[in-house]
Amino acid sequence: MASGHGSNFEALVAACRDGRLAAEVELLVVNNEGCGAEERARRLGVPCRLLDHRRFDGREALDRALIAAFRQAAVDLVVMAGWMRIVTPLLIEAFPGRLVNIHPSLLPSFRGVDAIGQALAAGVTLAGCTAHLVAPEVDAGPILVQAAVPVLAGDDVDSLAERIHRQEHRILPLAVQLAAERLRDSQG
Ligand code: GRF
Repeated sequence: MASGHGSNFEALVAACRDGRLAAEVELLVVNNEGCGAEERARRLGVPCRLLDHRRFDGREALDRALIAAFRQAAVDLVVMAGWMRIVTPLLIEAFPGRLVNIHPSLLPSFRGVDAIGQALAAGVTLAGCTAHLVAPEVDAGPILVQAAVPVLAGDDVDSLAERIHRQEHRILPLAVQLAAERLRDSQG
């Protein structure tokens, strides 16, 4: 699931294709027509579906369409790789332990929008990113992997975001691997 540039989506596809992650990306769902993620999917040959939230009557209706798309694609795990919409318990409960999110802060600090701006405004010296399983609260749930990124003198949102993104691309495939292992262990 992606809403914007799709660099995390591409990092996952790359990890699957170069053997770092024993998985396959079966489907990308985007909510913004023409977004970077959609273009990357075309270039990478990954099937892509547009589910534009503007065409749905509320969050639950969108989540029902997402669930149907993922069930049809028979996916084992769902990754919110820069999905800039709040999801409802419908989606979370449809994929218990199977829904992974990536967020550009060291959770539980700086949840919600503009996490990098929030971190800079607070004056932290250590920022970072978190991949976690999704719980009903926004940007919450069991943490799978985190990476710390030092804030450097003179950093602005763009410079810090660039270094955080590099770490996101590294930890998201690891988190998907861990989520899969947790599932396997819980199923005995
Ligand atoms: C990432 O910073 C992610 O943490 C946040 O949205 C951003 C998506 O970036 N949830 P991209 O679209 O993967 O390039």
